[in-house]
Amino acid sequence: MQIAALLADNPYVLAPLAGYTDLAFRLLCREMGAALCFTEMISCHGLTYGQKNTLVLLKSNDRDRPLGVQLFGSDPKAMAQAASLISGEQADFIDINMGCPVRKVTRKGAGAALMKNLELAELIIRQVVAHSTLPVTVKFRSGWNSASINAPQFAQMAEKSGAAAVTVHARTWSQAFTGNADHQIIAQVTDSVSIPVIGNGDILSYRDGKQLLLDTGCTGVMIGRGTLGNPWVFSPQGRPETLSARLPVIQRHLELAEELLQVDKMLFRIKNHIGRYLSGLAGASRIRQEITRCATFADLKQYFQEIKNLTVNFDGLVKSRNMLKDG
Ligand SMILES: Cc1cc2nc3c(=O)[nH]c(=O)nc-3n(C[C@H](O)[C@H](O)[C@H](O)COP(=O)(O)O)c2cc1C
Repeated sequence: MQIAALLADNPYVLAPLAGYTDLAFRLLCREMGAALCFTEMISCHGLTYGQKNTLVLLKSNDRDRPLGVQLFGSDPKAMAQAASLISGEQADFIDINMGCPVRKVTRKGAGAALMKNLELAELIIRQVVAHSTLPVTVKFRSGWNSASINAPQFAQMAEKSGAAAVTVHARTWSQAFTGNADHQIIAQVTDSVSIPVIGNGDILSYRDGKQLLLDTGCTGVMIGRGTLGNPWVFSPQGRPETLSARLPVIQRHLELAEELLQVDKMLFRIKNHIGRYLSGLAGASRIRQEITRCATFADLKQYFQEIKNLTVNFDGLVKSRNMLKDG
């Protein structure tokens, strides 16, 4: 599969977000307009050891395509082994995480630490490419810190090593998720390589995404935090202003979760997602308190069914009052 062709008509991509971008949320984002999705990062060791908690992260289905499975690790051999395992799974790309800032990951030389070790990064990419039947993409940051911005050189190394595309989160490791993304870095990377570049960092609306494409010449726009509570970000209309207009998406999220996730085990995560759909609405904190009180998934579903019935009645009431007024 060619990334440039895939993103030609619709360049919007859902970012990998650990703890959030499970199968249910990916499918919802696709229904809302995302052209391509990634799994959250998956440990190459967890995969090669067949750890149960790791294998759950691979869960996908036919509707979840095209899909990039993201791997992290610093051992080229284990990464290669994991890549060949994924090549037999439901996936279209293998993505290598070279941008994660979390210490637990960088301490072991993986994630963003690889931006300080181009030799090892190159070896990993080459090994993964050699052992994968799928195109390999690489996601990284602007650099380690402001004194060592090396995204353009890093992208050139990735291209030379066989990467089919790169994603640049335009922040350094030392920024983690603070400060502003510097989109100029994305433009510099785009100028430095001939493979497609997906730009990432601080895109909060469909319009922001269009602007990023114009400003940097990148091929795709990856959105992370901007999708949480707002999968409407993938459409030009954006998120509606009323609870009744948001409810169908909330209910769709619950429906997909029920179909595809172990809902009672993942109740905390599902509630976290659902709470975010309320942001900016009057009465949101009251509803969030009620969500917290739901002890089971069935309670949560029932609660939103009741809200739906209430809003339908309320909308009906407003309508008939207006009709009376107009009449
Ligand atoms: C909660 C959370 C989890 C993340 N998990 C991953 C991950 O598993 N793999 C990855 O490459 N990036 C991960 N990221 C980084 C995002 O993919 C993205 O690069 C970053 O949030 C910047 O984009 P944004 O400004 O649109 O959020 C994570 C970010 C957050 C906030």
